[in-house]
Amino acid sequence: MEYSPGLRGVVAGETAISTVGKEGTSLRYRGYDAIELTKNNTYEDVASLIIKDSLDGDEFKEAFSRHYNNKAFEDETVSKYIENLKSLHPQSEMHPMALLRTIVSGGQEIESDTEIESIARISATVCFAIASYHKADTNILSDKYLVASSLLPNDANDEMLEALDDMLILYAEHGFNASTFATRVTASTRADLTGSIVSGIAALKGELHGGANERAVELINSFNTVDEAEKGIYSLLDEKKKIMGFGHGVYKVQDPRSPVVKNWVEQLVDNDFSKNRFEIAKKIDEIMDAEKNLFPNVDFYGGLLLSELGFEIDLFTPIFVAGRSVGWAAHYFEQREQDILIRPAAKYIGPPER
Ligand SMILES: CC(C)(COP(=O)(O)OP(=O)(O)OC[C@H]1O[C@@H](n2cnc3c(N)ncnc32)[C@H](O)[C@@H]1OP(=O)(O)O)[C@@H](O)C(=O)NCCC(=O)NCCS
Repeated sequence: MEYSPGLRGVVAGETAISTVGKEGTSLRYRGYDAIELTKNNTYEDVASLIIKDSLDGDEFKEAFSRHYNNKAFEDETVSKYIENLKSLHPQSEMHPMALLRTIVSGGQEIESDTEIESIARISATVCFAIASYHKADTNILSDKYLVASSLLPNDANDEMLEALDDMLILYAEHGFNASTFATRVTASTRADLTGSIVSGIAALKGELHGGANERAVELINSFNTVDEAEKGIYSLLDEKKKIMGFGHGVYKVQDPRSPVVKNWVEQLVDNDFSKNRFEIAKKIDEIMDAEKNLFPNVDFYGGLLLSELGFEIDLFTPIFVAGRSVGWAAHYFEQREQDILIRPAAKYIGPPER
């Protein structure tokens, strides 16, 4: 069989969870258009769709609130664990992704739990850990935008909750991307759900994958004016540097998620700093189109959206984890059902026999 670097174009398994279509131009979760889902449904409905093919999010909501409230009000163990981890690295500060990976890894797993119960517990742990970074309280949960409200301070308005809810829906699932594939590889050995999701979190952190949203906003923030951005991007392209937040492994024309998040940024910018930053981002987008024929992926304007919602940069990829954990879980269950060990071959390029 022919070798394809990075497994590009290789069909590495079967899935009924999502597809970008044969042309790689749209995104559907179990047959539903993900963009339409942002208009008509909440993240909890979509989580339920992805896990158990039902748009009724009540079971997920009930389980998520129970676990989140339990951590917030009754069980101090997780809070103490989080604070202990943070104090382990007081100078260099542990990246919240490393903290999430560790917190999730230490979680309990009960084999008799339903699929929804298992992932709601992990999801609530992730959201609780992210919320611990806010200075303001995050203990009032919205019934409509439950998961989004667990991540934002109590004074977040409905517009902010809806924007974050859409972001979480668009982060929820994306086929055999690197972190999901890592999750499936671990699941294929018959390992547990927690360990498999930890593999996903570890893979998502890298800047060629989920970490791109953090690098993209750092790049945008490094310019003070549109002119500076123009000069800066041309010189980075001259140096053959990759511009984070552009290009995609499966989409070749556009990332259908990007216009949704860009619209939200446009709607939310309300001060001179934000407006200028949005202009800088649009200039970078224009240059990348003209010079490289590359389009922004979900992470370019997605990072900006999370910044407008008040998140510090190092919480962007953790928010991605909050959204994607249901996708990873669905792939875990599907892989366990298929029960095939993933074990590809390698092309040997080492020394000959000696
Ligand atoms: C996502 C990504 C890995 C997809 O990879 P791919 O489609 O397989 O493309 P490759 O990395 O093989 O690059 C193909 C060509 O496009 C260029 N290219 C791809 N993405 C680029 C980017 N973001 N900036 C500048 N050039 C880029 C490469 O330099 C390469 O050029 P070359 O043929 O002259 O060497 C790639 O676009 C990338 O690294 N993007 C930045 C990271 C990012 O935003 N990740 C989040 C993805 S959702």
